[in-house]
Amino acid sequence: MASGTLTAAYIAATILFILSLGGLSHPETARRGNLYGIIGMTIAILATIFSAQVSSYIVLVIMMTVGGAAGMVVASRVQMTEMPELVAILHSFVGLAAVLIGYATFLDHSHHFVGVEKTIHEVEIYLGILIGAVTFTGSVVAFGKLRGKIDGKPMLLPARHLINLGIALACIWLGAVFVGNPSTTSAMWALIFMTLIAFAFGVHMVMAIGGADMPVVVSMLNSYSGWAAAATGFMLSNDLLIVTGALVGSSGAILSYIMCRAMNRNFVSVIAGGFGTAGGTEAVAFEGEAVPISADETADLLREAESIIIVPGYGMAVAHAQNIVSELTTTLRNEGKNVRFAIHPVAGRMPGHMNVLLAEARLPYDIVMEMDEINDDFPSTDVTIVIGANDIVNPSAQEEPNSPIAGMPVLEVWKAKNTIVLKRSMATGYAGVDNPLFFRPNTQMLFGDAKESLDAVFKSLS
Ligand code: TAP
Repeated sequence: MASGTLTAAYIAATILFILSLGGLSHPETARRGNLYGIIGMTIAILATIFSAQVSSYIVLVIMMTVGGAAGMVVASRVQMTEMPELVAILHSFVGLAAVLIGYATFLDHSHHFVGVEKTIHEVEIYLGILIGAVTFTGSVVAFGKLRGKIDGKPMLLPARHLINLGIALACIWLGAVFVGNPSTTSAMWALIFMTLIAFAFGVHMVMAIGGADMPVVVSMLNSYSGWAAAATGFMLSNDLLIVTGALVGSSGAILSYIMCRAMNRNFVSVIAGGFGTAGGTEAVAFEGEAVPISADETADLLREAESIIIVPGYGMAVAHAQNIVSELTTTLRNEGKNVRFAIHPVAGRMPGHMNVLLAEARLPYDIVMEMDEINDDFPSTDVTIVIGANDIVNPSAQEEPNSPIAGMPVLEVWKAKNTIVLKRSMATGYAGVDNPLFFRPNTQMLFGDAKESLDAVFKSLS
């Protein structure tokens, strides 16, 4: 393919990626956004395949077949609730690819850069491997934490800030040794030491983060993986990879910032790693008796209510209850009741998790409210139904300064006249923190799988 055509294809793909990001920012345009992304990626892959950069089609076909098949199998098997883990492990692949490409580029002696160009090339390799290595191990640990294979509690080494500072200084020193070193062996050793340190830093950074702060970590690693891809683009002199990496890197950083604001965390300390513990780590156990309620009694309360707020959480996703939630909402709205949804920014296990499920169940967007839009309305609400949510409705975030989730904004469901919580047991949520909401006088517990409970309520109502 002529280089002009390649450039045109890359520009077209870039524009489609930007349109895709724009589309994905709103549920109504998300499908279109996805389509733009698919077309953009198809153009990018085809243009790269037919570009002069490909030296062996046999290797390319084998690798694309293996990678494509593995991707298809994994993506078709993954449950919606496992999506964040899949995203985390995919980020780790981007990081590992950046590391491997960095080494391959270093060992490739076909380039003959001199002077400033050589220095820039070496800086690109060094930074690419550094960011890639942190992203790789950080994402593997995030995967383990999200999957529950690694304890969600923050691992706090006594001198962790000093360790981080030492790591930063060591990386700067090794970088100085690497760049411009006339001895390939010394440069290689500097690169290997830096890679090992960066691997260790990735593990340390994510291990130090508490369960409730994992959403920020996932979006931060998303951003890191973008920068790793951009660094790879510089190493390979591939403009599209640079632009795409920068788009992912900056949109991930913006998302991390938004998540930090939603969680009331400090963005700078997130970027530096080892955060999420300032509010304390002592979980407080609450004594009291939770009052159970039956499906029929829940239906009676709903029948009498005029205003209803539904708060979906991770349990709604686990139970696949979104469709019955939608049917129930339609029935209640047909009876003239004001039914709205309150969405916490980190409800579920990934950004926009609840919005995706509610959109899938074809609920109208105009009754789905963000936390800030609806939080003041709970006192004037007759019935609030909490469906499989826990941390996002935990009053200790406001009332217990020592709680691990202290300071995190929450939906103030306890202020409604009646609050019904649907869950299977008294178990804690993701952050592992007990919830005093369950013992409040106006709270009643509808125990059981959320879908089965809602089926029963729906039957009783109709
Ligand atoms: P959680 O606090 O995790 O609570 C979910 C609750 O759902 C659990 O207490 C569980 O109780 C219940 N549940 C599970 N399966 C159920 C089923 N089949 N039927 C009924 N209930 C069921 O969820 P949340 O309130 O949505 O808060 C999200 C948490 O995840 C936050 O801590 C957040 O920081 C974290 N997180 C979020 C993200 C993003 S980006 N959204 C990413 C990673 C982590 P039972 O076991 O008793 O049923």
